[in-house]
Amino acid sequence: MTRIKFDDQIFETEHNETVLHTLLRNNVQVPYGCKAGVCQSCLMRSLDDTPPPVASQAGLKDTQQKQNYFLPCICMPENGMTVVLPNQNTWLEGEVVDKCTLSDNVMLIKLKSTEPLAFFAGQFVNLKNEAGVIRSYSIANIPNPAHELVFHIRILPNGQFSQFVANELEIGMPLSFSHAQGSCHYLEGKSEQPLLLIGTGTGLAPLYGIIRDALENHNHSGEIHLFHGSRDASGLYFEDKLREMEKNHANFHYTPCLSGEVKSRKYTKGRANQIALEKFINLEGWRVYLCGQPDMVLQAKKMAYLQGASSKEIYADAFLS
Ligand SMILES: Cc1cc2nc3c(=O)[nH]c(=O)nc-3n(C[C@H](O)[C@H](O)[C@H](O)COP(=O)(O)OP(=O)(O)OC[C@H]3O[C@@H](n4cnc5c(N)ncnc54)[C@H](O)[C@@H]3O)c2cc1C
Ligand code: FES
Repeated sequence: MTRIKFDDQIFETEHNETVLHTLLRNNVQVPYGCKAGVCQSCLMRSLDDTPPPVASQAGLKDTQQKQNYFLPCICMPENGMTVVLPNQNTWLEGEVVDKCTLSDNVMLIKLKSTEPLAFFAGQFVNLKNEAGVIRSYSIANIPNPAHELVFHIRILPNGQFSQFVANELEIGMPLSFSHAQGSCHYLEGKSEQPLLLIGTGTGLAPLYGIIRDALENHNHSGEIHLFHGSRDASGLYFEDKLREMEKNHANFHYTPCLSGEVKSRKYTKGRANQIALEKFINLEGWRVYLCGQPDMVLQAKKMAYLQGASSKEIYADAFLS
C-alpha cells in the first residue's frame, strides 16, 4: 500500500491499483479516457525527487519524462507520490449554442467560446461541468470566425458526463473547456499524400473534422479513404453528409462498415480496420488516422506499421466510442 497526495488530500492505494484508480475510487474528478496508457488524457506530473515508475512514462516525450510527467492510468506506484494535473487552472468558458441527436445514442453539442480560440480540427479538449466532472472530446469541426466547437458525444447508459449532456445540458448553459490538445489533426505541406482514416462510433468526430480541413481549407489532392465502423446501421450517423461529400470531391471515398448483421448492399460487412487494411496492403508513404475503440486502435496501429506506414505517420486517439 502506498500514499498518493493530490490536491492536499492523501489517499492509500490498494493492492495492484493504479494511481488513477485510487483517485477515482475516492471520487476525485480527474480527466481520463482509455485507461490503458494510449490517449494521454490523464497526464499528471509527480512533484517528488524520485522519478515516477518508468513504465508509467511509456509514450511520453523525453522532455515530459524529464519533468516527471507520467500516466496515472498505468502507474503502479512503488513509493508514495505527490501528484498534480498539468495546467489545472487553465479553463476557458463557452456557451452551448446547439444540441441535437445524431443517432440512437449519439448527440451533437455546439459550444461557442467567449474568447478567440486556436485549434486544429481533430484535436480534443477536456470539457468540465459544474459538478467538476471532466472528460475529453474530439473537435469535429474546423476553425471558424464564430469560435465554435462541435462535439459528437456517445451517450453511455451509466456514463457520468454523457448522461449529464443527454439529460441536463441545455442550449444557453455555460460549459468550461480546456485548450485544444493532441496531435491527431491534418498536417499542412503534403497535399498529395494518400490518407487512410479508420474510426468506430464517435471516432468519426475527429476524422470528420480532419477530412473537412483537408478538403475545404487545404485543397488536399491526394486520395482520402474513410472507413467508418459500427455494429449496426443506426451507428453510422452522418452517412448522408459523407455520401454527399463523396459526390462533391472525387478524391474522397467513404466505406461504411457493419460488424453485425448487414441488410443492405450500401454497407460492407466486417470490422472497419480489417476491411481497410485488407484493401490497402502497402501503406508506405500514407498518413493513417485511427480513432475509436482502444482495442481497434491498438490492433490497427500495429498492422498499419507492419504494412509499411511510418510510425511518425500514424496518428491515433483511443476512447470508448
Ligand atoms: C482523446 C479523447 C477523445 C475523445 N473523444 C470523444 C468523442 O469525440 N466522442 C465521445 O463520445 N467520446 C470521446 N471520448 C471519450 C470520453 O472522454 C468519455 O470517456 C466518454 O464520453 C465516457 O464518459 P462518461 O462520463 O459518459 O462515462 P464514465 O462515467 O466515464 O463511464 C464510462 C463507463 O461506461 C461504461 N461503459 C463503457 N462502455 C460502455 C458501453 N459500450 N455500453 C455501456 N456502458 C459502457 C463502463 O462502465 C465505463 O466504465 C474521448 C476520449 C479521449 C481520451
Ligand atoms: S486514460 Fe491514461 S492514457 Fe488514456
